[in-house]
Amino acid sequence: MAPNALLAETNTNKNSLEARYPLVAEDLARVKTSLLAILKPEAAILAENMQLSLSNTGKLFRPALLLLTAKACGAQHATNADIETAAVAELIHTATLIHDDVLDDAELRRGEPTLKHLQGNKIAILSGDYLLAQASLKLSTLNHCRLVAIYAHVLSDLCDGELLQLQQERDVTVTWDAYLRKTQCKTATLFEACTESAGVIHQQPEAIIEALKAYGRHLGLAFQLADDLLDFTSDSEKLGKPALGDLQHGLLTAPIILALDATKHDSTAHQALTARIEDIFSQESDASSDTAIQALLKTLEEEGYLEKARQLALEHAEHACQSLSVLEDTPYRQALEDLARHAVQRLA
Ligand code: FPP
Ligand code: MG
Repeated sequence: MAPNALLAETNTNKNSLEARYPLVAEDLARVKTSLLAILKPEAAILAENMQLSLSNTGKLFRPALLLLTAKACGAQHATNADIETAAVAELIHTATLIHDDVLDDAELRRGEPTLKHLQGNKIAILSGDYLLAQASLKLSTLNHCRLVAIYAHVLSDLCDGELLQLQQERDVTVTWDAYLRKTQCKTATLFEACTESAGVIHQQPEAIIEALKAYGRHLGLAFQLADDLLDFTSDSEKLGKPALGDLQHGLLTAPIILALDATKHDSTAHQALTARIEDIFSQESDASSDTAIQALLKTLEEEGYLEKARQLALEHAEHACQSLSVLEDTPYRQALEDLARHAVQRLA
């Protein structure tokens, strides 16, 4: 892509960033520029893929989280460390999605064909690896050991989370605690790193950094619970990927695990539910498995497990907001509270 096309891309996104995150839109445009500046792999195919992946970075949610937290901590302007660390978070996020699409054999993400679908597994894996390598390089320019440790932990947790998920696949004995542990690793850890690193960059007291981490963690859990529910209740067009995909992939998410947990003391109900889930797992994905999934969805709705998962998402969002009470009440803190509430408003 020609350089002026890159600029046009940046400007177009800046407009939507302005609407989405007015308080940090200028800073996010700098993050976008930083992301596009890494497009220098020698292999042409990799260069093309980087352009594709980075121009489809979606909402820059994680960079916005970091930048709003920095300003909620009193930073007047986003520093170079804020911008580059925000870019690192987005690079890691983009790499995990590229790898996740290989693991899920996914054809669509955000309504677009995945790199795995367009170029195959080998190139998708190498492209994700390249983004991770670029994230490490970026972090190394900041000369900040604690930031390196934070993002090294993130990488480790992401792999752990995905492995836990693999272990839990088609396992009807999975517990709520195991689900939470997986969700913490797979989703919440990167949110937590964004808010923690803003506190670290702006040299906040440890008690404040702990509160920022708690905000990021609860936001991440609320976000994932909402995502789990939307997989059941939304449609493929809105999701930009096939709906009801989790169950079809053998993944037990919040509403079902809550139902399994709640029926544990009623062995007849528990066995009946377990049998229905195992039956879905044993079928090829076709019309009859769709009917079984729809029937299970109806039960989950009628017996209140969708609502219970929604309540838990709301509780985590509220907990996230409460964690911020250690900060001064500024428009930046309010914007962070809005982010948490918005994550679950998607469920209204
Ligand atoms: C998307 O969520 C996936 C993740 C948040 C984590 C993916 C992690 C890996 C692939 C481990 C590899 C790690 C690194 C560091 C590259 P989802 O699967 O719940 O959502 P989806 O339905 O959109 O796929
Ligand atoms: Mg996935």
